[in-house]
Parts: sequence; C-alpha cells; structure tokens
Amino acid sequence: MSFTKVAKTGDVAEGHGKCVVVGGKNIALFNVGGTYYAIDDACPHKGGPLSEGTLNGNDVTCPWHGAIFDVTTGAHLSGPGASNVNEYKCRVEGDDVEVDA
Ligand code: FES
Repeated sequence: MSFTKVAKTGDVAEGHGKCVVVGGKNIALFNVGGTYYAIDDACPHKGGPLSEGTLNGNDVTCPWHGAIFDVTTGAHLSGPGASNVNEYKCRVEGDDVEVDA
C-alpha cells in the first residue's frame, strides 16, 4: 500500500473530476460532496477520459459515448461496453489528496 500525493483539495471542485497521473497511469479523481474517489481515467469502451465526464451524485457519464460508472466502486452501470474500471483508495492528509494506485 503506497499513497501518492496527486492534488490539493482545492484543485477539484465538488461535483467535478480531474485527471492525475500515478506511476504513469492516468487516474480520474472526483470530488463527491467533499469526499474524493479515484478510478481509471480511460473508459473501457474506447478510452474516453472519464475525468472529463459529467458527475451526477456518485455516477460519472463518459464524455464520448455515455457509458456510466459509479466512481465509488468503478462499477459499470450502463451504456456501451460492459467492463468495470479499477477503483483506488483515496485519503486526505491536511490539504493534500493522496491516491493508492
Ligand atoms: S469511450 Fe466511453 S462510452 Fe465510449
């Protein structure tokens, strides 16, 4: 288990996402009501950037073709494709957001 600082808490507004890179991997970091969640950025359908998707509660809609994932679990909920994405543990230390990826 190894947490890496990826952002300041103020870098990701509530209800929005941000792409961060951990160990060469693109991760989508989301702020849901002040709690941070991290999943793979690349949509398993065709690689759309989930960090740029629209967040509705816990669910993000891929900006390319509309697949929907639960950012708290990485579960694929609907839309094209059928694969889940990986979910990564997040924690806040002071005003740093850290991801274990
Ligand atoms: S790339 Fe995400 S739905 Fe197609």
